[in-house]
Amino acid sequence: MANIQALRGMKDIIEDKRFLKVFDTAREIAENYGYSYIETPILEETALFKRSVGESSDIVNKEMYQFIDKGGNDVCLRPEGTAGVVRSFIEHKFDRQQIPKRFWYFGPMFRYERPQKGRLREFHQFGIESFGESSIYEDINVIAMAADIFDALGISYTLKINSLGCSTCMPKYREKLVGFLNSNKKNLCEDCQRRIEQNPIRTLDCKVESCQTILKDAPKITDNLCESCQSDFETLKKGLDNLEIKYEVDKNLVRGLDYYTKTTFEFVSNEIGAQSAIAGGGRYDRLVEFLGGKPTPGVGFAIGVERIIDLVKTSNERKGIYLGAMIEEALPYIQKEAKKLRKENKVFVEVKVKSLKAHLKASDKANFKKALIVGEDELKKGEFFEKEL
Ligand code: HAM
Repeated sequence: MANIQALRGMKDIIEDKRFLKVFDTAREIAENYGYSYIETPILEETALFKRSVGESSDIVNKEMYQFIDKGGNDVCLRPEGTAGVVRSFIEHKFDRQQIPKRFWYFGPMFRYERPQKGRLREFHQFGIESFGESSIYEDINVIAMAADIFDALGISYTLKINSLGCSTCMPKYREKLVGFLNSNKKNLCEDCQRRIEQNPIRTLDCKVESCQTILKDAPKITDNLCESCQSDFETLKKGLDNLEIKYEVDKNLVRGLDYYTKTTFEFVSNEIGAQSAIAGGGRYDRLVEFLGGKPTPGVGFAIGVERIIDLVKTSNERKGIYLGAMIEEALPYIQKEAKKLRKENKVFVEVKVKSLKAHLKASDKANFKKALIVGEDELKKGEFFEKEL
């Protein structure tokens, strides 16, 4: 019988210090920015993602792990984190309190995509969502936080930004775009032809080369913004300049999720291959209302942890104390000492009785900073044989 293996596109994470470093770094920075922890269920009603991410998006259309549970409910493994956090925000009536709420989260997401380097079926995101603040300065804060996280992890990036406009300018622009697409329809790929009806904006980031050539001449939302969106976009750029965060305006950056309005952004790395987006986000001012809550603006981002993991460096610095016994009778003594030392140190107790030489070799190999070994003499005197490693 063949051994059972992990599913395609899913990986075990074993003793990976880089993972913990991403988590610790991102969490600390998010908390310093005033964000607090939220954890929502991995399984949600399918309708949540259909309504938020959008029925015409690839994520909902092609990539969901969707099934009917034993109670007959249509459910799916979350493909992203924002929808669940918004559901929770409304369910807990934070929308009625009309005070800003800011959350961070870390956890697995599931998309049934074709696995390749940097693209998994189960992957992890560190994400943040800020509710209740419509000021464009909040977008600047949010982007600055992502930049801070990458800087702290020593990861270089290119930041791309765009504006998708609001309910004033977007519909007018959409009409213009649909006109352009219809006049070029026969030369567009099948997907883009379908998108004209369903979601014309998504044609802009179509990866098919012939479409890209045609779409170079398409009207761009960034050139068709209303006065207020235009002014916000200028403030956003100035705000990033002010914080010395470099960016490029990418007029085709529409993102693969339907809930965005105004600011969209992506952090891209040129060191990791074709799947180069290491974080993505933007503003979603209508999503809370769309999911049944009181109108509440929102903005956030998510970092793809597996995409950056190879760029994360961890130190090999020696750490902690190793306690070992050379005789069985010394074990209770070292366990008691360890309890005291653990208040301020990382302490490991080896429960196998070994010779001094064997203890020193093992503690050195495991990268401890210090070894404290107890034999008959040390036990009698209440001392240790101490060695800096
Ligand atoms: P997203 O762009 O779909 O946005 O995903 C964010 C990040 O997750 C991507 O930039 C990428 O690094 C990583 N990612 C996506 N799919 C995969 C995959 N199959 N394998 C590995 N990594 C992947 C969102 O999910 C939004 N919820 C972000 C957001 C939060 N917008 C506002 N708030």
